[in-house]
Order: sequence, then C-alpha cells, then structure tokens
Amino acid sequence: MAHKILLLQGDGIGPEIVDAAHGVLRALRDRFGLAIELEEALMGGCAVDAHGEPLPDSTLDLARAADAILLGAVGGPQWDRIERDKRPERGLLKLRSSLDLFCNLRPAALHAALADASTLKPEVVSGLDIMIVRELTGDIYFGKPRGIETDASGQRVGRNTMIYSEAEIRRVAHAAFRIAARRQGRLCSVDKANVLETTELWREVVTEVGRDYPDVELSHMYVDNAAMQLVRAPKQFDVLVTGNIFGDILSDLASMLTGSIGMLPSASLDANGKGMFEPCHGSAPDIAGQNRANPLATILSAAMMLRYSLNEAAQAERIEQAVSAVLDAGLRTADIQSPGGTVVGTKEMGAAVVAALK
Ligand code: IPM
Ligand code: MG
Repeated sequence: MAHKILLLQGDGIGPEIVDAAHGVLRALRDRFGLAIELEEALMGGCAVDAHGEPLPDSTLDLARAADAILLGAVGGPQWDRIERDKRPERGLLKLRSSLDLFCNLRPAALHAALADASTLKPEVVSGLDIMIVRELTGDIYFGKPRGIETDASGQRVGRNTMIYSEAEIRRVAHAAFRIAARRQGRLCSVDKANVLETTELWREVVTEVGRDYPDVELSHMYVDNAAMQLVRAPKQFDVLVTGNIFGDILSDLASMLTGSIGMLPSASLDANGKGMFEPCHGSAPDIAGQNRANPLATILSAAMMLRYSLNEAAQAERIEQAVSAVLDAGLRTADIQSPGGTVVGTKEMGAAVVAALK
C-alpha cells in the first residue's frame, strides 16, 4: 500500500524548501519504486489568510489520516500582531499536541565537507554526531495558567507555567534511552534541577527509567552548563534528552555546530512512530521567494520521514547519500558557503540532490 504523505508548505521560505523535498520524493517514486501518495494542505500564516485560522480542521483531519507529514516552516512579521490564538506558531503547536507528537528528534551531525562552514574550529566539530531528544508537547509551551493580565495596581503581568507530569517525562525518557542504546550508549539528561522543581522531578523520573536500561550510561547536566559544554567540547555528547523549552534553545545552538541551521532536519513522533518531519529552522521571511534558502534540512527531514515513520530505510539512505554527494562535489547554498564551493540557489540544490540519487 502506498504511504500517504501530507505536505504542509507553510510560510516564508516554506513553499520553496518543500518544493525541493517534493521533487526528491517524486524522483524516488518515479525512479526507485517508492509507493507514495502526496497531498497538500494549508497551515500557518497562509491558512490564517485563507481560512482565518492557522490550523483549519480540514488540515488537522488530513494530518490525522496521513501516515506522515512533511512541513516547511510557519510564521512571518505580517502575522505577529494578530490575536495570539490565531498566530501561525499556535497552529504548529496545536498540530504537535493534537497528534501527540511528544518525541522530537533533532540530530546534529556534521557533514565532513562542511567542517569549514562552522563558526567553531574544525577540530572541535569534525566527526560531530549528537542526537537531541526534545519533549515536544508539554512544559511551559502548554502549561496553564498563561497570558498577559493587568494586576490590581494596573500594571501588566505576563505569566506562563512550567509543568511536567511523571507520565510525560517517563515516555520521552524511554524513547531517549532506546535511541541511546542503538547509538554509543550514552544519555545526558538536561535540566535545571538546582532551581526548578519541575525539572527536579524530571531528573528523578529519568533516573528511575534508567534502571530499565543498564547498558546506557546516564548523566545529568544543568542547562546552563550544557549550553557552555556544547560550544566548548560538543563531541562529549551522544544523546541529550530535555524538556520542551530547553530543547528548543539547545537545538538551535547545536545546529550551528554543523555549519548552519539550514542543514538540520527533525522528526516529531507519537507513541506509535507516526510523525511530522520539519527542518529545525524557521520561515526566514527576509529571504523568502528569492531562491536563496537552503533546502537540505527539509530534504533530510524527508529522509527521516522515510526511516522513522514509513519503514523505508533504504530510500532514506538514498537521500542522505545524495546530499553527501552534492556537498562533496562542492555545491553550497549561501548559508554554508565555504572556500572553493559553488554557491547555488534553492532550486538548483534540490535538482542536484535529485540528480545524485542512486
Ligand atoms: C522550533 C520552533 C518552534 C518552537 C516555533 C516556531 C513555535 O522554534 O520548532 O524549534 O519553538 O518549537
Ligand atoms: Mg526553535
């Protein structure tokens, strides 16, 4: 049976990068027998403009019916001032939480050809291969109460709630231990247990879960130290597991170790492995429509989709090898320029990956 894939282009550079990934998927279908059915729907600012809300029910229904979802990026300055519940980012958060996509995988691996593109010294980052497991449907992102209110003295007060239940921590911890067991067997849990009770519980529960995985070496680190260690000596890490807000911040940081945030894919999975796949970067409105965006994070997200949700590891490898081949051949988008590289646009990069599929 054909895999049903829903494409959500989103806003800003979203349409261009998803087009590039779409081209790669079509090539796998037409040339390498990948059985897929592709559908498209609106989510984000484009859906606000067309339907008055960032995640229309019709899109959510298609997302539920699909085997996997490939998303570009959402948001842009034109929607920053509209009613909070209608902002594009809320659509994304609602989609993540409606589908229970609690397990967000953000791999930061350095492609050898890009060692010079990182702002860090090549010896610090060469051979880097980290997996960040970010909890995605809890924490201060969703905790209540939240909002901006006026207090008795007439001044405005903003409030969000950092909250995790034991069950939420436990399920993402299990996912992280299983991933670590298949890699180098080292898991570092990141928290702020010296200050925040929520993450004190996080540390306790992760430690309990760890008893089920005697072969995985568990360590704990405070988030401030983890940020520092990630730029000082990132290769000390194998798998990191952390909550939603810390994971958001640390994954942007980790992306720059690999040269550019334009290279980083992600997978957001539910308990059964169904998922949504998206680049870690945003919608980059400043370069939208200019054929300048790097489509590789989205193309690599399509590879993660094939591997994690659709059980098509061989097709995933085909994409990953094609990406390596174009980078080895010196092709670069503007964000990963390096000496001797040839700078190309979004479309050309996508076409080069298609041509390199073997
Ligand atoms: C990410 C993004 C999102 C997040 C935004 C767009 C809501 O930064 O996927 O990391 O904060 O989760
Ligand atoms: Mg982010």
